[in-house]
Amino acid sequence: MSTIAIIGGQWGDEGKGKVVDLLAQEAQVIVRFSGGDNAGHTVINPYGEFKLHLVPVGIFSPHAVCIIGNGVVINPAVLIDELDQLNQRGVDTTRLFISDRAHLIMPYHILLDGLEEESRAGKAIGTTRRGIGPAFADKVARLGIRTGDLLDEEVLLERLRFILDYKNIMLTKIYGVSPLPLDEVYGKYCRYGERLAPHIRETATMLEEALSREELVLLEGAQGALLDPDFGTYPYTTSSSPLVGGSCLGAGLSPFRINRALGVFKAYCTRVGAGPMPTELKDEIGDLIRDRAHEYGTTTGRPRRCGWFDAVAARFSTRINGFTGIVVTRLDILDGFAQLKICVGYELDGDKTDYFPASVAALERCQPIYEELPGWQASIRHIRQYEQLPIEARQYIARLEELTSCPVNLICVGPGREENIYKTPIF
Ligand code: IMP
Repeated sequence: MSTIAIIGGQWGDEGKGKVVDLLAQEAQVIVRFSGGDNAGHTVINPYGEFKLHLVPVGIFSPHAVCIIGNGVVINPAVLIDELDQLNQRGVDTTRLFISDRAHLIMPYHILLDGLEEESRAGKAIGTTRRGIGPAFADKVARLGIRTGDLLDEEVLLERLRFILDYKNIMLTKIYGVSPLPLDEVYGKYCRYGERLAPHIRETATMLEEALSREELVLLEGAQGALLDPDFGTYPYTTSSSPLVGGSCLGAGLSPFRINRALGVFKAYCTRVGAGPMPTELKDEIGDLIRDRAHEYGTTTGRPRRCGWFDAVAARFSTRINGFTGIVVTRLDILDGFAQLKICVGYELDGDKTDYFPASVAALERCQPIYEELPGWQASIRHIRQYEQLPIEARQYIARLEELTSCPVNLICVGPGREENIYKTPIF
């Protein structure tokens, strides 16, 4: 079979959860490879409605193995809570495995995320305050603690003592808050270790074995390409790579093993948190999209900023990821608009450009150049065949394909597992 990466093409929240849930019906292995519990995947399926932050959405496929890869940072309390909730609702979680190389989110990471945001004052990033940035910073600074360390209490104690001494100096001397007691943190993480031990494995080998059996492997993205710390709107980004490139490192897999990369894009744009968003609509159309689509963060409940589809950003993220196909989600939200707009270029300091700039200062000055397309005046939620979509909806999709130079494989017209239109085959 093959390996398919499912990647957010915008600023996250594109509906990857639904797409993974759908494709996982055919897959044997599903791997989360980046981020942490800053992600929030909403899934509506025959088990009910779920909001998952860490457990791969593939957990709903009864025969699939799910892996939280080495590239994810794990808050054990959140993971255990998620496992308990899934178990209570009849979902088998014995098929979930956690890489022994995945780093842990510690209580000081969460504290520092909040303290750092407050100290940034007007320059705050608008993080989810889940400790993601500080945990990834510690990974690179070689001050991290990994899930594998939970399996040996002596190793854990020695590591924690060394790191907590240093963190407590930061907490007390820089931020003037109380230190964290070693015995309390140690006791808590020992209990987490006992609970999670049956799930902790060397998962890269499991993945290699699955590939040698020619199984279908899905790499489940979190966040979106424009939040990538290298290629996104830095510094208004997350701290791990949500790109196809990031999926190799975060899952523990060679790039040559990936056969397809699906870019998931909403039919419009949203962003949550601070940072530039050229097509943001601060008017009644933006409010209408937010209300109609319930655009509020799954993890933080914050209202999402809404705007028209940005094809400059989409072309950039398609190229940087090498998408082989696109999934357009939430097309039904655009039902009933008389006119639709797509941003086809930017005006920057009096010049036209179709390049997505590296500098946020430049991106903030970019004025969108719009192309107008006629809307469709009917509900499309019941439609399952591409040819039955109104001509205006097909024109809209065709224009997205032209502007991104990438074929659209799948269109989602509602949140349910069956509310889709296959335009061209994915497999
Ligand atoms: P962090 O990942 O919590 O550090 O937040 C950094 C930025 O990424 C903030 O603007 C967040 O709102 C944004 N972000 C992080 N995770 C997600 C997500 O799953 N969806 C959308 N935005 C996200």
